[in-house]
Amino acid sequence: MRKKILVTGANGQLGMEIQQLSKGYPLFEFIFTTREEMPLDNPEAIRNFIAKQQPQYFINCAAHTAVDKAESEKELAYQINAEAPGIIARACKENNVQLIHISTDYVFNGTGSVPYKEEDETDPVNLYGDSKLQGEKKVMEFNPGSIIIRTAWVYSDFGKNFVKTMLRLMADKDQIGVVSDQSGAPTYAADLAEAILLIISSQQWTPGIYHFSNEGNITWYDFAVAIKELSGSNCKVNPITTSQFPTPAKRPSYSVLDKTRIQRTFNIPPKDWKASLSICLQKLKG
Ligand SMILES: NC(=O)c1ccc[n+]([C@@H]2O[C@H](COP(=O)([O-])OP(=O)(O)OC[C@H]3O[C@@H](n4cnc5c(N)ncnc54)[C@H](OP(=O)(O)O)[C@@H]3O)[C@@H](O)[C@H]2O)c1
Repeated sequence: MRKKILVTGANGQLGMEIQQLSKGYPLFEFIFTTREEMPLDNPEAIRNFIAKQQPQYFINCAAHTAVDKAESEKELAYQINAEAPGIIARACKENNVQLIHISTDYVFNGTGSVPYKEEDETDPVNLYGDSKLQGEKKVMEFNPGSIIIRTAWVYSDFGKNFVKTMLRLMADKDQIGVVSDQSGAPTYAADLAEAILLIISSQQWTPGIYHFSNEGNITWYDFAVAIKELSGSNCKVNPITTSQFPTPAKRPSYSVLDKTRIQRTFNIPPKDWKASLSICLQKLKG
C-alpha cells in the first residue's frame, strides 16, 4: 500500500511546489488540504482530519505568513503559527505520524555576522518570528520525533513574493528603491519542496531542527538587481536603507542560515541562489 503524505497550505507557495513535484513520487499518496478543509484555527478540525486520514507523514506548510500584518493580528498569528503546530504535533504523536514542520530565519535577531546554526540562540525581533518560535517549541515538546525546517526569503512562480512584486514594479516604474542593509539567502520553494520529499523518501528519519535555503549571502537590493538583469528589465534599481523603508514589523538585518546539517544528514546538495532564481524566472516567462 502507498504511504500517505498529508500536506497543509495546499495553495501556498510551498504547498503548490510540493503538488508539482508529487507527480514524480508515485510510491506515495498525497493529500493536499486547504484552509477550508482543515482550518488551523479549529483544533477539533485538525484532530479529526488527522484521525480520519491516518497518514504516515504530515508536512505543515500552512502558516500566517504576512509578517507586517501579524503585528496587528497578534491573536490569529499565534493561533496559526504557535497553537496549531502544537495541536498538529500532539495529534501526529497519537496517530504515529511523522511530522515535518516549516519554520523561519526570523527566529533570530539578526545581529550575527556568520551563518546561523540550528543551535544558535533564538531571539525574534517581530511578532511573526516569535509566533513561529513558539510553534517550534510546541512541536518539539509534544512530538520530539518531528523534523523542523527553518527556511528564509521564500519565492516561487506561485503565490505572492518578492520576485513577483519586483517584476511588477519594474514593469510599472522607471526606478525603484530596494533595501540594501538586510542580508540573507533566498529560497526557491521548488528546491525546498524537493528537499522535503528527499527527506521523506530517504527512509532515514533523523528528528531535529534543520536549516534550508539556497546558497548565498545577498541583500534584498542584490536580489532585485539579479531579477532586473535576468528578466532584461530597464528599470533602475537604487539601494536604500531600512530606515528609508519603514515597515510595521522590524526585520533582522542578517539572517543567513548555515545549511551544513541538512546537507550532511540527508545528502541534500546545495543550490546556488542565482541559478534557482533563473529557473523560476524562466517558468514565469513561459
Ligand atoms: N514566505 C516566506 O518568505 C517564508 C520565509 C521563511 C519561512 N516561511 C515559512 O515557510 C512555510 C511556507 O510558506 P509559504 O511561503 O508557502 O506561505 P504562503 O504562500 O503564505 O502559504 C501559506 C498557506 O497557509 C494557509 N493558511 C493560512 N492561514 C490558514 C488557516 N487559518 N488555516 C489553514 N491554512 C491557512 C494559506 O491558505 P490560503 O491559500 O487559503 O491563504 C496558504 O495556503 C510557512 O511555514 C512559513 O512560515 C516562509
